[in-house]
Amino acid sequence: MKIGDQNYQSIWIDENDPAVVRVIDQQKLPFTFEIKDLRSVDDVYNAIDDMTVRGAPLIGAAGAFGMYLATLEINSQTNIREHLSNAARFLISCRPTAVNLSWAVSFVMEKLKDVQSLTSLTKTALDAAVEICEIEKENCRQIGKYGLKLIEAISRKKKGAPVNILTHCNAGWLACIDYGTVTAPIYLAQEKGIPVHVWVDETRPRNQGSKLTAYELGQNKVPYTLIPDNTGGYLMQQKLVDIVIVGSDRTTKKGDVANKIGTYLKALAAFDNKIPFYCALPSSSIDFSISDGMKEIIIEKRDPDEVTHLTGFAEGKIQSIRICPEDTIAANYGFDITPARLITGLITEKGICRPTEKDIKEMFSYKFN
Ligand code: MRU
Repeated sequence: MKIGDQNYQSIWIDENDPAVVRVIDQQKLPFTFEIKDLRSVDDVYNAIDDMTVRGAPLIGAAGAFGMYLATLEINSQTNIREHLSNAARFLISCRPTAVNLSWAVSFVMEKLKDVQSLTSLTKTALDAAVEICEIEKENCRQIGKYGLKLIEAISRKKKGAPVNILTHCNAGWLACIDYGTVTAPIYLAQEKGIPVHVWVDETRPRNQGSKLTAYELGQNKVPYTLIPDNTGGYLMQQKLVDIVIVGSDRTTKKGDVANKIGTYLKALAAFDNKIPFYCALPSSSIDFSISDGMKEIIIEKRDPDEVTHLTGFAEGKIQSIRICPEDTIAANYGFDITPARLITGLITEKGICRPTEKDIKEMFSYKFN
């Protein structure tokens, strides 16, 4: 996507130094646009951990590039297989909820399985990481195509009045290498001249909505309104939301969806108000090995400081301020589970399906054991 006149992905290899992986520092947006260089497995781990890079498809791609950097750390003393397995385990351990991380790291490991020479290991790992980026970009393009049909249908029904889409967190190009899962249909609708308007949940505690989704939509001139996380239910009662589209960090084979904390409450409100609630996700976010989201998905717990403090921009710099009494005990669950029964459909790269094992299996039979 474009920032000013320049096209960016949210991760890429430095064209002047292939030993450097470059990422957009999402901790600094929207206040400053900075690029960070990652040169080692530790750098990649730290960037995922502190959310310099975030969003399920992007942390997958970052993990894959981490495996590439792991091959560059090999020297004559290294036990290669042990080194690669340790790096894979280390990277996967960084964030537990989004399945894309383990999917992508395993994708690279599988490609490296029978490769012997160091030069070939490095080349194979780099090719695999780049391939993952291409897969995710194409997934988003396809999701865009299918999601567009939903927006078009609503637009027809509303006789061209703006389609009001509510979204939570950031499932845009920053999170997905390019285009975004939730945003691809929106950008396509905009390109086709269909009037759209996005209600952007601020997405406490880290504010991916107010900081990142608002930034992306603004850069692409998509009309949006920022709302506190508690506002969606009221807007739905007032018929000011036509469709909810959110992303996913892990979806079970029966269609339960783990997504950013607060998603479940939006799904409940949408269900109560008979508003279509869709999850846009690439198959790299589906965990075909599990069925029950509530029981089987590990929910990441993050630093309580993210709840007790707010980070914003004041006096020319990014600053953090405390917003509660000192010594406040806070809980910071990163994700929640929206059960399949509250979800109207899954928008995937293969089309839209109902969140049932039967429909998911029909669409992705080759991924079922
Ligand atoms: O904790 P984050 O910001 O990495 O969370 C991921 C998300 O942005 C979402 O939950 C998103 O909707 C899925 S990623 C396209």
